[in-house]
Amino acid sequence: MNILGISCSPRLEGNTEIMVRESLNAARENGAEVELVTLAGKNIMPCDSCLSCDKTKQCKLNDDMQDIYTKLLAANGIIFGTPLYYQTVSAQAKALIDRTFLFRQERNLRNKLAAVAVATGGGDAVNAVDVFKMFFNIQRMKIAGIAVGKGSYKKGSVSKDIQGIMGARNLGKRISDLLKI
Ligand SMILES: Cc1cc2nc3c(=O)[nH]c(=O)nc-3n(C[C@H](O)[C@H](O)[C@H](O)COP(=O)(O)O)c2cc1C
Repeated sequence: MNILGISCSPRLEGNTEIMVRESLNAARENGAEVELVTLAGKNIMPCDSCLSCDKTKQCKLNDDMQDIYTKLLAANGIIFGTPLYYQTVSAQAKALIDRTFLFRQERNLRNKLAAVAVATGGGDAVNAVDVFKMFFNIQRMKIAGIAVGKGSYKKGSVSKDIQGIMGARNLGKRISDLLKI
């Protein structure tokens, strides 16, 4: 079983990445093969609604998303991480979600296990979680869990939120347990 973690924060080694790493570590300890991808420093252009993917089943935008498409298709389980920005997901997370439009028609992500970890500055993550739930539902992915870590705006602050970190670890354990079934 192969679990992909994607940190959709523009900040390298920040709170989102910490959350996703904790999930992946727990999944690895439970027997999964894991890989972490960060969108920090990557170029993921927004979907331009050309709809050429309807015909070609490919995205014509030639950027770092092309590599992520391959990884998404290969993964059995995917743990997405996003920081909470203005009570919702980061621009990087939304760009990635929109760019999966090419998978919608043929439901290429169908039945993959999916989870989301949100790193907040203390605010309520409900809107960000809803964005991902909607994405998972539209793509017919199976929701394996949700974790929220509450820190501050400071890099690393989420590590002090023991409940949040435990939530991230439980997420990784659960998704790897489910993949064993
Ligand atoms: C542009 C921006 C908007 C933010 N908006 C919120 C917010 O609405 N609520 C909140 O609790 N934290 C907010 N934060 C704080 C981040 O969610 C928080 O610092 C998070 O841990 C950052 O994760 P990172 O270290 O992976 O970037 C915001 C931070 C930035 C840079």
